[in-house]
Amino acid sequence: MHAASLTDSHGRTLRDLRVSVTDRCNFRCLYCLPETEAAANFYQSRFIKNGAQRIARQWHSAEKILTFEEIERIVRVAVNLGIEKIRLTGGEPLLRQQLEKLVEKIAKIDGVRDLALTTNGFFFAQKAKALRDAGLQRISFSMDSLDRENFKKITGRDSLQEVLDGIDTAQQLGFAPVKVNAVVIKGINDHEIEALAGFAQKKQISFRFIEFMPLDSGRAWQKDLVVRGSDILQRLQKAFRLQPVVSANKSETAKRWSFENSPGAEIGIIAPVSEPFCGHCNRLRLTADGKLRTCLFSVVEQDIRAVVRSNADDAAIANFLQDAVWKKEARHHIGEPGFVQPERTMSCIGG
Ligand code: 5AD
Ligand code: SF4
Repeated sequence: MHAASLTDSHGRTLRDLRVSVTDRCNFRCLYCLPETEAAANFYQSRFIKNGAQRIARQWHSAEKILTFEEIERIVRVAVNLGIEKIRLTGGEPLLRQQLEKLVEKIAKIDGVRDLALTTNGFFFAQKAKALRDAGLQRISFSMDSLDRENFKKITGRDSLQEVLDGIDTAQQLGFAPVKVNAVVIKGINDHEIEALAGFAQKKQISFRFIEFMPLDSGRAWQKDLVVRGSDILQRLQKAFRLQPVVSANKSETAKRWSFENSPGAEIGIIAPVSEPFCGHCNRLRLTADGKLRTCLFSVVEQDIRAVVRSNADDAAIANFLQDAVWKKEARHHIGEPGFVQPERTMSCIGG
């Protein structure tokens, strides 16, 4: 038991900290940082409909970004307060130089039970060995299409092969299970749902289908672009023999299914829009520029960087974390009247 914990005013205890190490990315995914011609075409009619302003992209300058030492310190204090899982995200986390050094620091913290990374996969094959040796335990790739042209349309980069190589490398190095995430958008990649699941089955991958959330810098999200998790499941059940995987972990965001006769392979459906799981959310996020976010959709952030850079001792950092977490939002309000999309996009928050 921990002497102190991170609990909120809605009775939730936080165990999972997601650390964004950079807001930069080398991809331009439609649903995140749309900047390509394909994205412009896709979004054009929708801008007008929404009347919303596109969010201008401006990377953070170097001095705003937390150093590895600052991140390590915040993580250590958070782990003393009961955080057990750490996931490194971006932007694209592998754009941060020598990320393996941070992995090594975090892996050494007593009480870290799980250390994972989310990547677009582009640099993974190059970095994999160093990350594994440094103590990285798990890896999630983002791959929304198995079709080279469609992959290019979605991410703005002709890099499907690099991502596939990254996935192979991860499996060879013994990261298990290797996870792959796909954001499903109606009319963009929903025709590939069965093919992606087939890939998971063949490769023995744990594949996650994620509903499109309003976190895109194009601000073009609309409910009718969301393919509901229940529809994804129905389609997959027609194409495959699936069995539900029972989990004891209530905070799990994915409903999981295994394939008959394909041990190791798994499907997960993450439906934050149509079936919110906020009531069990145990996550806290730290942005690359040192702000705490208690929800993906937070409209306020807590500036922990200012505390860390003010000569504060660990107890003061712990207090700050506890105060921030206490105010964690009850739930998101996607799709409700008055919903405001947060200023930050996924590329700044990290998934
Ligand atoms: N909706 C849902 N998922 C998103 N991601 C990025 N933007 C969105 C969005 N608007 C996912 C990516 C990646 C993870 C970091 O977050 O696919 O897997
Ligand atoms: Fe795509 Fe991830 Fe980069 Fe966003 S941060 S553009 S989701 S690869």
